[in-house]
Amino acid sequence: MSETAPHASEPTSASHRPQPAVIAREARPDGWWKKAVVYQIYPRSFADSDGDGVGDLRGIIGRLDYLKELGVDVVWLSPVYRSPQDDNGYDISDYQDVDPLFGTLADMDDLIAGLHERGMKIMMDLVVNHTSDEHPWFRESRDALSPRGDWYIWRPVREGFEAGEPGAEPTNWRSAFSGPAWQYDQHRGEYYLHLFSVKQPDLNWENPEVRRAVYDMMRWWVDRGVDGFRMDVINFISKRYPLTDGATAPGETLSSDVRGFVDGPRMDEFFQEMHRAVMEGENLITVGEMPGVTLEKAASYTDEANHEIAMVFQFEHVGLDSSPGEGKWALKPLEWRDLKENFARWENGLEGRGWNSLYWNNHDQPRIVSRWGDDSTEYRVASAKTLGTVLHLLKGTPYVYQGEEIGMTNAHFTSIHQYQDIEVRNYYRDAMAHGADEKSLLASFAAKSRDNARTPMQWDDGENAGFSTGTPWLEVNPNHRQINAEQALADPDSVFHHYRRLIELRHSEPVVQEGVFALLAPEDPQVFAYTRTLGDRRLLVVANMSSRPAEIPADVPEVEGRVLLTTHPDAGGRTLAAWESRVVELG
Ligand code: NOJ
Repeated sequence: MSETAPHASEPTSASHRPQPAVIAREARPDGWWKKAVVYQIYPRSFADSDGDGVGDLRGIIGRLDYLKELGVDVVWLSPVYRSPQDDNGYDISDYQDVDPLFGTLADMDDLIAGLHERGMKIMMDLVVNHTSDEHPWFRESRDALSPRGDWYIWRPVREGFEAGEPGAEPTNWRSAFSGPAWQYDQHRGEYYLHLFSVKQPDLNWENPEVRRAVYDMMRWWVDRGVDGFRMDVINFISKRYPLTDGATAPGETLSSDVRGFVDGPRMDEFFQEMHRAVMEGENLITVGEMPGVTLEKAASYTDEANHEIAMVFQFEHVGLDSSPGEGKWALKPLEWRDLKENFARWENGLEGRGWNSLYWNNHDQPRIVSRWGDDSTEYRVASAKTLGTVLHLLKGTPYVYQGEEIGMTNAHFTSIHQYQDIEVRNYYRDAMAHGADEKSLLASFAAKSRDNARTPMQWDDGENAGFSTGTPWLEVNPNHRQINAEQALADPDSVFHHYRRLIELRHSEPVVQEGVFALLAPEDPQVFAYTRTLGDRRLLVVANMSSRPAEIPADVPEVEGRVLLTTHPDAGGRTLAAWESRVVELG
């Protein structure tokens, strides 16, 4: 920090602080993000520097050398803006400040500088489908005649109904966090739309002033040195007007039909406008989180010729272990055939036109080693490595979610009192009121709840896993005694060092970056095999996705060649050990 900068503990405001230098243009060459690996930090659970039990920016700053050693290129930071924390920061009350829970703007500047000094970049979370209900914009909007009266989506009480009674909502839409997606506001005498919690009102993107305010805020962060944005539920911002009731399942009054707000008619226009206002000439990494997006839409949003966004972050593969149409809690075992087919559809469908994010985990998904791997003592390491291999060798930009690189497992919570997440708590409250079976609810939560990903990062085998000296906001997984970063760094055969090698391969091998994908043996339920081809170079990835040995099927004819990476160095031939994977250069 320069001598003229205020001390970190002094109150700071944007206008009092010298702005860090804008990052040099050449630091972001064309298409750099196609060769990059992203690491996601969920700040509240990463590292706590001040002992209040919640992770913070200074905690992250203290761990940058760990990220450097792993070799990742970009850090995606989940929200640290000012927020009442109703949805852990995805409810923002000031986009241009840091919540005191996490630190200060000065800490943020230091984090940006610390990453850039180490050759890494930073991507902020951009949550602009909605704000917090405590944002000054929303407060003002509660007065219909104020200049911001039209900044949110307000509608009168449904005709023939009294305000507040069931059915009086302007449409029958269900909120992602249970109950109706509309809340009556006494002061204004109207309902506002909230696709997420009642404290997350949806912004009205039809209003050009709203869009301008968002772009100005994005520019402010770009000028501060950030390298891009991960855009929260961004394909929900263009609603389909007029807003009308959605289809309902038999016996239900609320609708989970998303057609009124997913991929609405003005998406391309909004992205292109945002591109002109913020992204032009900057080569930012821009990632659209897009639940329910179709392959065709994803291809057009990310086609460079359209000047919209760099890549899509979509959810089809992580929906394959839920019963279709019944929501995420209706558990169904994964069929590897379905997953292989799904990956192939996206790889082939985007080839030469669009760009995908490759991920198993994020802060909304359970831990992959518990979900589709085997988190037993015997197979945790091998299955975590092999899951990493089959994902990281695909075409797209890989994401590593904190703790994935050491094979962290699900939380294995057994009581509702252990959960903190608003999604689970609301769902439990409503389901129990409707006579649900608690045991089966808890089984679904243990398998799929978002808190599985949010238990504190396991740094060492000491108290609170080295995450905090205070009481962690969410229970630390007791398996930190065996599974932790210190142990993983010291063991050359750890999941960490396997991920490090996968990241190296992405950096050093053009065929990993650009090679064309082809699925082999699509019908095999156990073996996942594919090739990547670039010019005369051809890589084979072959993996046993099970805890039993497997024979490589006959429709994978060639398996011999130079081995670039393997989980089982002494193995070979056509038999794969449980969770064995190999990356082989053929020919
Ligand atoms: C998607 C985010 O990833 C999730 O954590 C959040 O709850 C919703 N969007 C609402 O912002």
